[in-house]
Amino acid sequence: MAIATTERSYIRQNIDPHIIDEISRLKESLKAVILAHNYQLPEIQMVADFVGDSLELAMKASKLSGIEYIFFCGVHFMAETAAILNPDSKVIIPDMKAGCPLADMITVEDIKELKKEYKNAPIVAYINTSAAVKAEVDICCTSSNAVKVVNSLPEKKIIFVPDKNLGFFVKRQIREKEIVIWNGFCPTHLWFSEEDVEKARRKYPQAVIVVHPECREEVQLKSDFVLSTGGMFKLPREINAREFVIGTEVGMLFRLKQTYPDREFYPLNERALCPNMKKNTLEKLLNQMRKPENLVQVEKKIADSALKAIKRMLAVT
Ligand code: 13P
Repeated sequence: MAIATTERSYIRQNIDPHIIDEISRLKESLKAVILAHNYQLPEIQMVADFVGDSLELAMKASKLSGIEYIFFCGVHFMAETAAILNPDSKVIIPDMKAGCPLADMITVEDIKELKKEYKNAPIVAYINTSAAVKAEVDICCTSSNAVKVVNSLPEKKIIFVPDKNLGFFVKRQIREKEIVIWNGFCPTHLWFSEEDVEKARRKYPQAVIVVHPECREEVQLKSDFVLSTGGMFKLPREINAREFVIGTEVGMLFRLKQTYPDREFYPLNERALCPNMKKNTLEKLLNQMRKPENLVQVEKKIADSALKAIKRMLAVT
């Protein structure tokens, strides 16, 4: 299998084709699937059976059956979600240290405090949270369904954790609810500034500017679309534009360029690289397939409670 190469530093070159062949062989013999998030390295996306955003990956994981191993190429909370949805499969992550600083910005103790302070308000947790936090909340959401999820709740007052920028995005769409927003953020999306948007408008006057809801609110307000990575992936099919400026982690550009070779995609800021997503490499994936060790496990009691919040979200979606 040939791997396309590019001049961009975030797209790796010179992949050994033997690695790809061995991964394909092992995938069959292990009865495995490889799931990958849109931010994964191009070579990982190319060997994956399914690439998607957080919601698509959770939905895919919820539909798998008879699979012995799920090799999950993403960050730890995403692999945990797949493990909760598939208690009969072994979920393996190429690098156990691929965490999420945003998910670490809220703890179980924080949730317990919130419950004490806001007694009757349901808590909505972004999927970027640990399984232990999910186990304590009412419902989960992702960036693509957050508005739907909050709208599905009958209560007027809602607690939204942990991403403040996604929280503000939801608040702008649902004026009639009172939304209490936690103060978390994604450090990678903080790279994007209003100035980046202004510069992009000058440099690419014909382009549509689309950013992730984890970007600062000012950046969202200056852009043309605010979408999840899954929404960004669908956008070129839905609108009549030839050029797109993409305001999210740079891994997203690979999939867009591969899928729409007749369009132009430019990064809003090339420095927006998630060091955790990039901890998973093809070699680490292969090593784990040769000798699966990085098992992502969730304690049964936590998994059972977290599953309720995840399933409630999937039902709304
Ligand atoms: P998406 O659900 O849009 O893929 O977002 C995942 C994420 O963690 C963004 O930083």
